[in-house]
Amino acid sequence: MGYKVAVVGATGNVGREMLGILAERVFPADEVVALASRKSQGVDVSFGDKTLKCKALDHYDFSDVDICLMSAGSTVSKEWSPRIAAAGAVVIDNSSYWRYDADVPLVVPEVNADAVAGFRKKGIIANPNCSTAQLVVALKPLHDKAKITRVVVATYQSVSGAGKDAMDELFSQTKSVFTMDEPEVKQFPKRIAFNLIPHIDVFMEDGYTKEEWKMVAETKKILDPKIKLVATCVRVPVFVSHSEAVNIEFADPITVEEAREILRNAPGCVVIDKREAGGYATPYEAAGEDATYISRIREDATVENGLVMWVVSDNLRKGAALNAIQIAECLINRKLIEAKRKAA
Ligand SMILES: NC(=O)c1ccc[n+]([C@@H]2O[C@H](COP(=O)([O-])OP(=O)(O)OC[C@H]3O[C@@H](n4cnc5c(N)ncnc54)[C@H](OP(=O)(O)O)[C@@H]3O)[C@@H](O)[C@H]2O)c1
Repeated sequence: MGYKVAVVGATGNVGREMLGILAERVFPADEVVALASRKSQGVDVSFGDKTLKCKALDHYDFSDVDICLMSAGSTVSKEWSPRIAAAGAVVIDNSSYWRYDADVPLVVPEVNADAVAGFRKKGIIANPNCSTAQLVVALKPLHDKAKITRVVVATYQSVSGAGKDAMDELFSQTKSVFTMDEPEVKQFPKRIAFNLIPHIDVFMEDGYTKEEWKMVAETKKILDPKIKLVATCVRVPVFVSHSEAVNIEFADPITVEEAREILRNAPGCVVIDKREAGGYATPYEAAGEDATYISRIREDATVENGLVMWVVSDNLRKGAALNAIQIAECLINRKLIEAKRKAA
């Protein structure tokens, strides 16, 4: 017998991607259930070449569920994750609600897979923010070689990172511009079509945004608390895939050639770095792919041991759905969970 997997938020950007990836990777599930809010009850969602009818999360009985992939936002997760865990399922949550809880592991399998074992405390594992996930995949192998001391990152984040309504807003605003109508602004603080917005999530007292703070806190929790990081997070009019310009300072020397070779052999990383027009990755090409693409690797001559690079990945996949499913695979491969129906 395989596992029973529940996908909560199955009608959303991340939930739909989760169902697609579960089917693609032939995840060892006997049964997959799609859950969303009451308004989506009965809605069809694709699961490989099948369709599943969405059920309402309210009153769903999780007692025979083994793994719950949650992507329905912080408010839903705060209320439901502990209840689902109490019913005996492991919750792998995509919201930010549990990420900074000392009793909840925050995991990117290429970086800190061993941390999954900590799920037993609360029955919950957190998935990082999409910008952090791709960043730490690229930083980890370089940190192992030359010890990163400081990172300066500017992000170029796609609208899909803000959910399905945000994608619709970019589409409808773009259409309005062409039909000379006034673009309607609802999901973002300003117009996003043919524009960009240096503001993601709420402002904090120190002037940084919560999205920028998340990158600092999560990099420390996943990779190394000693790494200093400063971020500027920007929303751009791209549908899928986040890009990042990253400046890295190291304790030890590391050459561009060494970095390129290390990243070529690192799990989850693909180096596309020809110093010519088109010899780099862009968000359009990364969309729908699993890898974190690294391009434009070059020396930062303004510091003693420094590199600069460009990092691109599909935020719905490595930044969310794929990472969550890789965590579930880790639990299974390490025999940390057993299918309830098998155990019965
Ligand atoms: N998009 C990304 O790149 C990304 C990356 C990392 C983490 N995340 C996180 O993942 C979560 C989902 O993001 P998303 O982009 O997929 O959002 P989304 O497209 O807006 O989808 C939200 C999903 O949550 C469901 N939902 C909302 N309220 C619910 C309720 N009361 N009960 C049950 N289901 C409910 C929605 O169902 P209905 O359709 O029925 O309303 C929908 O399926 C968020 O916490 C987000 O921060 C997203």
